[in-house]
Amino acid sequence: MSKKILCVIGARPNLMKIAPVIKALKASPSPFDVCLVHTGQHYDSAMNDQFFAALGIPKPDINLEVGSASHAVQTAEIMRRFEPVLQSETPDAVLVVGDVNSTIACALVATKMGIKVIHVEAGLRSYDRNMPEEVNRVLTDQISDILFTTERDALENLRREGIATERVHFVGNVMIDTLKSQLPHAIPMPETLRQSGVSEAFLNGKSDYGILTLHRPSNVDDPTILRTLLRTVGDISKSLPIIFPVHPRTRSRIESNGLMEIISAANIALLPPQGYLEMLGLMKDASVALTDSGGIQEETTALGVPCITLRHNTERPITVTEGTNTITGTDPQKIHAALRDILQTGGKVGKSPEFWDGNAAPRIVAILHDWLGRAQQRHVA
Ligand code: UD1
Repeated sequence: MSKKILCVIGARPNLMKIAPVIKALKASPSPFDVCLVHTGQHYDSAMNDQFFAALGIPKPDINLEVGSASHAVQTAEIMRRFEPVLQSETPDAVLVVGDVNSTIACALVATKMGIKVIHVEAGLRSYDRNMPEEVNRVLTDQISDILFTTERDALENLRREGIATERVHFVGNVMIDTLKSQLPHAIPMPETLRQSGVSEAFLNGKSDYGILTLHRPSNVDDPTILRTLLRTVGDISKSLPIIFPVHPRTRSRIESNGLMEIISAANIALLPPQGYLEMLGLMKDASVALTDSGGIQEETTALGVPCITLRHNTERPITVTEGTNTITGTDPQKIHAALRDILQTGGKVGKSPEFWDGNAAPRIVAILHDWLGRAQQRHVA
C-alpha cells in the first residue's frame, strides 16, 4: 500500500518550497499518497491564491483558516484545528517546510500523536532568538524524525543541539528547484510595472533599478528603524529607481506611522505583494536587491544578482560566503557603502552553492522511500 504523507503549508514562503516536493512525491515510481493541508496563516489573495496556479500546487485538501492573530493565539489555533485532521487522515508522516508558525505548530501536534515528522529546510540558524522564526527552527528540528538540509553547515548546527547525524540528510535547496523550473516563465519587469499602473517614466529612460522588500518585525514594527530604512532607500532612489512590493504588515506600519510621504517624495514605485513569476522577473533583472527576507537572499544568490541584507545576521551564511549577499544591518552608512561597491564594481561574483541544482526534491523523495520502507519492515518484523 502506498505511504501517505500529509504536507503542511501556511505562509507565502512555504509555497515555493512545497511545490517541487509534492510534484516529486507524486512522480516517484511508487507514488506517495499526498494530502495537502493549508493552515490559512496567509489568506490574502496576493499572499496566497495567485501562487497556486503559477507553481502548479494542487488545491489544498483541507484549509484550517486560522488567519492572523498574536503568535500564541495563531500557533495554538493551528494546533487545535490540526489535531482532528491527523485523527481522521492517519498519515504515515507529516512533512513541514521552513520556519513559520505553521511549521512548528503542526510538527508539535504530529509528534505528540506519535506520527513521524519530516522537516525540509532544517538546521538553518541565525543564532538570534529574538526572531520568531529562529525559535520555530530550533524547536521543529528537535522534534523532527528526519531532517533535510540546504547547506552543509546546517549539520554542524544540528549536531551542536544534540541531533543525531543519521537523521540529517544534505539534499540541497527545494526553493531553487522552483526557481530553476520557473525562470523561463518569469514575467518581464515592464509588464509588472504596467499591471500595477506604474509609468515606465519612473525608470528615467534607463533599465537599471533596485528591488526592495521589508517585512521582518525587527525592521517594520519599530517606527524609528522603519523611518531610517525608508529615508536611506529614498536617498538611493535619487540615482537608482526602487521597486518596492509591499507586504501587508509593512504597508500598515508605513500608513499608521505617517511614513508614506517619505515614499511619495522619493523615486520609489510602491507595488502590491507580487506573484511568484512577477517577483522572479523583478529580481532577475535588478541591479541590486535590498531585503530582509531569507528566501530572497537565496534566490539572488542562485540568480547571481547582488543582494544587500538589511539585517544584522543571516541564518543562510552560504549566501554570504559563496553567494552574492552582503549583510549591512540597518546602518545607512553601511547600506550606502555596500551599494557603492555593487554599482562601481558589480559586487560579489558568487557561485551557486552545492546541490542548488534543481534536483533537491527528487533527492528528498528517494530518501523518504527508503526511510518509510525501513520503518514498515521494522513494524512487520
Ligand atoms: C510570516 C512568517 C515569516 C515569513 C513571512 C512571509 C512567522 C512567524 N513568520 O510572517 O517567517 O517570512 O510570513 O510573508 O510565521 N497579513 C495580511 N494578509 C495575509 C497574511 C498576513 O494582511 O494574508 C498581515 C496581517 O496583518 C498579519 C501580518 O500581516 O497580522 C503578519 O502576518 P503573519 O503571518 O503573522 O506574519 P508575517 O509577517 O507574514
